[in-house]
Amino acid sequence: KTRPMEYRIAQLEALGHFLDDKKQHILEATACDLGKAPFEAELSEILLCKNELHETLNNLSHWMKDEQVDRTLAMQLDSAFIRKDPYGVVLIIAPWNYPIQLFLVPLIGAIAAGNCAIIKPSEVSKKTERLVAEVLPSYLDKDCFAVVTGGVPETTRLLENKFDYIFFTGSPPVGRIVMTAAAKHLTPVTLELGGKNPCYVSDTCNVANVARRVVWGRFFNAGQTCIAPDYVLCTMEMQEKLLPALRKAIDDFYGPNPRESPDFGRIVSDKQFQRVQRLLGSGRVAIGGQTDEAERYIAPTVLADVQPSDPIMQEEIFGPILPIVIIANMDEAINFINSRERPLAVYAFSSNDKVVNQVLARTSSGGFCGNDTLMHVTLTSLPFGGIGNSGLGMHHGKFSFDTFSHRRGCLKRGMGREPLNGPRYPPYSQQKFGVIRATSKVTCKNDCTLL
Ligand SMILES: *[C@@H]1O[C@H](CO)[C@@H](O)[C@H](O)[C@H]1NC(C)=O
Ligand SMILES: *[C@@H]1O[C@H](CO)[C@@H](O)[C@H](O)[C@H]1NC(C)=O
Repeated sequence: KTRPMEYRIAQLEALGHFLDDKKQHILEATACDLGKAPFEAELSEILLCKNELHETLNNLSHWMKDEQVDRTLAMQLDSAFIRKDPYGVVLIIAPWNYPIQLFLVPLIGAIAAGNCAIIKPSEVSKKTERLVAEVLPSYLDKDCFAVVTGGVPETTRLLENKFDYIFFTGSPPVGRIVMTAAAKHLTPVTLELGGKNPCYVSDTCNVANVARRVVWGRFFNAGQTCIAPDYVLCTMEMQEKLLPALRKAIDDFYGPNPRESPDFGRIVSDKQFQRVQRLLGSGRVAIGGQTDEAERYIAPTVLADVQPSDPIMQEEIFGPILPIVIIANMDEAINFINSRERPLAVYAFSSNDKVVNQVLARTSSGGFCGNDTLMHVTLTSLPFGGIGNSGLGMHHGKFSFDTFSHRRGCLKRGMGREPLNGPRYPPYSQQKFGVIRATSKVTCKNDCTLL
């Protein structure tokens, strides 16, 4: 039922209607859960989803087409192609930080590829969970799409079922649990995990612009972004220049008291608040540092002179705190990055192209952005996904469609011309083998040039 293109398009268009009709509800729910500014919610929960949706609707007929592939001489009369089959039933487990986008973007891919889906929104972003559970099913075909709510016990039970694909976004420890559950049924997974994303700032750069771009990326959604720049690596000299520029950017963006800014968010839960608050003890508070537990408010904070061994450097911060770790030079920064788990993103700022290119060439991460933060994920033409500890698999745009499609290798042959098959049947002979070799061989380019 989910396979015809018309069906997929109807469901995708329904997702568009959900976003249009319920825009105000989405803004209210995310404001309630995360103090998310309406601007940030509209950008990250609605606009990004609509871009994905439009990219998918524009290209679906093209993506769905069988891909004809090369054939050997012996198969010139046959048809060899890749069919893009759906996996079947997909489970999408979403986190609380972008509680609409992070289930909707994978769901677009799952529907586009012809799958059924079960959506498990996060129980931590309560208001959004309720909105999704109450409203989304009325937009989609109930035979094929369902929302399941609940916390750890419910998710544990859910994971006991056999799915055909699991798409999980969340932390590396929970990613391991999901992958273990999937292994039981040999279910393929995509794991969108997090990590500590380094942001190298070289000695030559436009400090004011760097500060604005880093402050925006770090404090967007109150720092609860898996691709946020997690910490800055720079020299002592650059730290001295950067601190006043960061202070100015924070002041320009959120005013003298960010707590009163309608554009600065809150931590999602008391548990998360307490975790993030504990991290304020690392290094020295150079900017911010104020907290208010009742509101789950943590001021945009910059910690200077942070040691690599400090608690804040041992876990993904996922809150509005930016530590600065001092390194002597670019080589040391690259070594620092490479001595740790591979992050979801690496950022590098420099007026010198060579520096940015060196950081790109000599590190490994899910994605990369030179001279800015976060912006690489807004392009539907780029794959989004981690490597190593930051995840496996990818999505966005066509990459989502590919993730949720099984590429089925197909060959269709004629039933006549049986003499052409003679050489492969017993009784075997050296002469028959020669015919087969001549008609089915893939020659090696290098061998040819040697001959
Ligand atoms: C999507 O479609 C547009 C216009 O048809 C085309 O230019 C673009 O290359 C397509 N993108 C992908 C990823 O197929
Ligand atoms: C980074 O920005 C600087 C200043 O605009 C520019 O000179 C440099 O080429 C940029 N680097 C890259 C890799 O684009």
